[in-house]
Amino acid sequence: MKATAIAHANIAFVKYWGNRNDEAGKEGLNLPYNDSISMNLDNAITKTTVEFSPDYKEDVVIINGKVVEGRKKERVVNFLNFVRELASVEHKCKVASENNFPMGCGIASSASAGAALALACCKALGLPTEESFVSRMARRFSGSASRSVPPGFVRWKASENDEECFATSIASPHHWKLCDVVAMVSEEHKKVTSAQGHLLAKTSPFFKARLEEVKERVEKVHQAILDKDIATLGEEIEREAISMHVVMMTSSPPLFYWSPETIALIKALHEWRESGEVQAYFTIDAGPNVHLICEEREKDKLLELLQGLPFLKRTFINFPSEGAKLVKEHLF
Ligand code: PMV
Repeated sequence: MKATAIAHANIAFVKYWGNRNDEAGKEGLNLPYNDSISMNLDNAITKTTVEFSPDYKEDVVIINGKVVEGRKKERVVNFLNFVRELASVEHKCKVASENNFPMGCGIASSASAGAALALACCKALGLPTEESFVSRMARRFSGSASRSVPPGFVRWKASENDEECFATSIASPHHWKLCDVVAMVSEEHKKVTSAQGHLLAKTSPFFKARLEEVKERVEKVHQAILDKDIATLGEEIEREAISMHVVMMTSSPPLFYWSPETIALIKALHEWRESGEVQAYFTIDAGPNVHLICEEREKDKLLELLQGLPFLKRTFINFPSEGAKLVKEHLF
């Protein structure tokens, strides 16, 4: 009962912010209020091996070579308990997981970790390994993990119903060589987890307004990806990131993820674009770092311009990638 899977992190073009975990019967399901759209990132990979065995006396979780305890372990064990119950298996489990990308590089590892863990567990426990099922399972670990299961450009459908709420691919990774240059302005860890943030979203007076505007935006972004229309995609993802951060900043208590450098970078980007130097657009997740989205031909120019920003710590480059998959080489 051993299996290994790899999965990639993703960057959301239309964001998931707010879920129904505080509604009766929906706790822990991570059911979102709106559809979201993302791209899998080829340079941000998690590999996870799980083994369920009667030989293990307790669950052990090893991340990047270190045995973890506390909240990190609890999160994995909660997931193991859920899949064990589904599969009617009681064996304890050893989980080893490795990220090829550094922590605090502006990319959350929970999406790739959740997708790899879900696929490996489904395989090891004899549960279905079809994409929609694994995406639903991954959602339980972390909502955005549901989008790291299918390949390429992915849409996660919102639904109040657990069985209907999973992600599917809207275009393969080869469809469009879009580039995500992660511009790191800070390596500080976030103080409020996204799990807490999702529950605060509804306290913002702008949350409802956001849900209204996002309906139209999700269709525009979907179409822009199909059409490889960078101008429309770019304008929409910038509005979208601002809209999510407005909700964050106006929730109670307010969540401020941006730093002064985040704004400085956005302003520099707008100047470069207006003067015709580079066609790139920003999006920002729950942190201060900025994801710059452009077509491949713009990448080198963008990197050259970024070199001129004294506050920039480093960059991390990604292209679209495949989804979660099983591999034969185990970590132990
Ligand atoms: O999946 P979570 O609970 O880590 O939430 C992800 C939240 C954002 O990264 C800010 C947006 C998104 O859709 O990925």
